Amino acid sequence: GFRLRLHICHIPARLRRSMILSTLGLPFPHGFVFGFQHENFPGGSPILGFHTNKGGRKRHKQTHHGRCYRGFEDIKLIKDAGLNSYRFSISWSRILSKGSLSSGINQEGMDHYNSFIDELIKNGEKAGITPFVTIYHFDMPLALEEKYGGLLNRSFVDYSELLFKIFGERVKHWFTINEPNVLAQYGYEIGISPPGRCSLPSTLCALRSPVKCFETVCPCKFGGNSSTEPYLAAHNMILAHATVAKLYREKYQEQQKGEVGIVLVSQYFLPYTESEEDKAAAGRLFDFYLGWFMGPLVFGDYPQSMRERVKERLPTFSAEEKVLLNGSLGFVGINYYTSSYAKHKAPPPGEALHYSFDTWAETIGKCVVNFFLTVQTDGHWPEGLQKLLEYVEDKYQNPKVYISENGISDHKDNGSPLEVLLEDPYRISFVTRHLFRINKAIKNGVNVKGYIYWALFDDFEWGMGFERCGIYFVDFNNYTRHPKRLGEMNACTSQEASDIM
Ligand code: NOJ
Repeated sequence: GFRLRLHICHIPARLRRSMILSTLGLPFPHGFVFGFQHENFPGGSPILGFHTNKGGRKRHKQTHHGRCYRGFEDIKLIKDAGLNSYRFSISWSRILSKGSLSSGINQEGMDHYNSFIDELIKNGEKAGITPFVTIYHFDMPLALEEKYGGLLNRSFVDYSELLFKIFGERVKHWFTINEPNVLAQYGYEIGISPPGRCSLPSTLCALRSPVKCFETVCPCKFGGNSSTEPYLAAHNMILAHATVAKLYREKYQEQQKGEVGIVLVSQYFLPYTESEEDKAAAGRLFDFYLGWFMGPLVFGDYPQSMRERVKERLPTFSAEEKVLLNGSLGFVGINYYTSSYAKHKAPPPGEALHYSFDTWAETIGKCVVNFFLTVQTDGHWPEGLQKLLEYVEDKYQNPKVYISENGISDHKDNGSPLEVLLEDPYRISFVTRHLFRINKAIKNGVNVKGYIYWALFDDFEWGMGFERCGIYFVDFNNYTRHPKRLGEMNACTSQEASDIM
């Protein structure tokens, strides 16, 4: 306990913030990535709106994170926080207004990202900030969805190639798609996010709705088939990823020397009881979350448990596609927020078949707190991250991993004065504990290369509105940033330090 406590609590105030966030005094390997993310910029053409109101699809001029975007002055804040990397997404509709190459390139968008990336990496490898770029982070260009069925079109490959061509000399870490399971499930099973396709009856839809405020969009409004489309959408995303990864390997890798990965989100699933049934339920949940993508990308096919339950609704990969999949995972980004117990559950007789029911399992919140439901306790479960990392290492041939998201939202200000809000001991504890667990995983052989906290600033969250998850506090009236006093607080009681160790 001594060493960690020393570094967190007894370093000079001036150094504390960057120490805590960038090294914690823990023996992370040389070159380990520490970063934050924030996204996008206002302007550009409409993307498929997230909220659906009164039966109509809303066009959004801004993406969720764009609401808080300030421009290049934010880059200084990344540096001030002592970080060496920054994960952000490029907005598809701001590069290709209608989504496809034939509709023309938006020069304004290109110029923006060009100078943004230049500014990030300005001081070279050592002092500059390494960009981690997500090619597609939920913001489907409206025109592409309406005309060509969104991701079911080849445009994603053209769009990705354009990014490699223009930015690839400077960007070396590419995430193709963010959380494809969320896109597939929310967009095509429960219909709570674009394109809002869903065939669940309203009662089930509301039940499946993970967050209260989404109930306004139930029942399903835009048609669809909840029993087949989530699988089809995911299938297409897997192939889109693999196609882009192959293109990179064959045309760009030699010269640009970068890597292409994908971002997946998963919980750690603990069996609710020691019964064989619950253990199997936990295994299935891993398969339906992670294995859905890791199976094809590492082994060329979906997990057996999915095939058994989903049967002919689960698409198949041709021999040629299996070749395409082979070697398509340069690395995997893992988003980790929470963990759950897994309990066996047989589907109710006569129930329609949908992704959520296909798992034959239900999840029960454990000690855990998810991103939104912050309680000021130690209810989150950092150990789940270590276990998840070890699970991935063991099951999927020890891939290179970045923690591409991990964070917590406070939800409210509680009316406290700013100086109190800036103390934020809870977040220090949260980050510290998760980093400690990552460190343990590394010692146990997991190939983790970096940690990216969600998010640099308080953000404008999908379907939720403003959330307080930032390392910088944002005044939502004028978007002024206030650095949290992350190092200047007395965050480490000896109890806490010994808990960490
Ligand atoms: C998941 C998504 O990738 C990101 O866009 C979202 O804001 C965070 N996690 C928090 O929910």
